[in-house]
Amino acid sequence: MFASPHLPAAMNCIEISQFGGPEVLRLVQRPLPVIKDHEVLIKLAAAGVNRPDLLQRAGHYPVPANASDLPGLELSGVIMAIGAGVGARDNKLGLKLGDAVVALSNGGGYAEYCAVPVGQVLPHPPQLSMIEAAALAETVFTVWYNVFMRCHLSQGESFLVHGAASGIGTTAIQLAKAQGARVFATASGGNATASGGKKLALCRKLGADMVIDRDSEDFVAICRHHTDNHGIDVVLDMVGGDYTLRNLEVLAMDGRLAQIAFLRGNQVAFDLNLLMRKRLTVTGSTLRPQSDLGKAKIAHSVYHHVWPMIAAGQLRPVIDRLMPLAAATAAHQALEAGEVAGKIVLVVDDALAKTQVNAQAKTLAPR
Ligand SMILES: NC(=O)c1ccc[n+]([C@@H]2O[C@H](COP(=O)([O-])OP(=O)(O)OC[C@H]3O[C@@H](n4cnc5c(N)ncnc54)[C@H](OP(=O)(O)O)[C@@H]3O)[C@@H](O)[C@H]2O)c1
Repeated sequence: MFASPHLPAAMNCIEISQFGGPEVLRLVQRPLPVIKDHEVLIKLAAAGVNRPDLLQRAGHYPVPANASDLPGLELSGVIMAIGAGVGARDNKLGLKLGDAVVALSNGGGYAEYCAVPVGQVLPHPPQLSMIEAAALAETVFTVWYNVFMRCHLSQGESFLVHGAASGIGTTAIQLAKAQGARVFATASGGNATASGGKKLALCRKLGADMVIDRDSEDFVAICRHHTDNHGIDVVLDMVGGDYTLRNLEVLAMDGRLAQIAFLRGNQVAFDLNLLMRKRLTVTGSTLRPQSDLGKAKIAHSVYHHVWPMIAAGQLRPVIDRLMPLAAATAAHQALEAGEVAGKIVLVVDDALAKTQVNAQAKTLAPR
């Protein structure tokens, strides 16, 4: 193993003391994670907060075997140690000690240090701050995998995303626009409350061609009308329940539906004839339980397709608010309350989070 000599024995982290509400999150000290042969140890600048963290905390998203029980699926930071088995085959990008990086972790991101398989670690895009970079991995991997690798959204097609002001939604709008798709976005208008208005305005600002208030408008009718009855080529849905039949109705011939969550329920009934008549494809996935190899394949595709979009200024994570690591409970409360547009980022190391990474000097001195 190659390691910086400046590693402490223990770290601050947030653990789930028992399954339950946001109050079960506790700031504790634990020993540093011991890295496996194919992993690197990252000192965190910041960590992104995602809805799956809330599900894990509530006991509805089991931790995969061998993954950290700590919450936290995405982060930015600096490599402080490299596992003995990390070689050219799995470290294709040649990452080394001191490199500023972005990582999709298997868990353990709400901590000062996190062990991550090297295939899930990507160089920090110099166009973004450490804070913005912390909010990239979980959302970008999920959207890229479902919308592009599985549903093959392409230039000129129409795309509908629900929950469009969420971390996932704001990423989906930007990636679909960058790909040349026509984007329809639904979000809660909050019955004209300030937070609802904020969500609809954000979707417009990010380039959505048509923004639909889910509280007062019918997305099927609007999408049909604005596509001359063609319908939508690809739908990305996290809502399920009563949205499912409407998603199938709004899809065009040969349309594709990617299901990534079911906030309104997972039990639905629909007429299979609809699938056959329109030659529809219904798919879905969960990211966290996938193998390290599967995630490395997504990382490879993300690096080659999405990193150039970041460089071209076509994707920038939307940060709703920054909170210190110790405020993880308040962060979960805010996300659960539906008041967040974009992402919450937990600042783990204030100084590191403020470090500017530029293209010429992507390596920071390990401290
Ligand atoms: N399958 C995977 O691999 C994977 C990976 C990451 C995330 N996810 C899922 O993707 C979703 C988004 O993740 P995130 O971290 O971006 O979450 P988030 O910021 O909390 O966003 C959730 C969004 O869901 C919408 N929503 C909530 N309740 C709703 C309801 N009853 N009806 C319609 N819309 C509702 C809200 O939109 P409005 O209130 O603005 O309409 C909100 O913006 C989550 O459900 C998460 O579990 C799945």
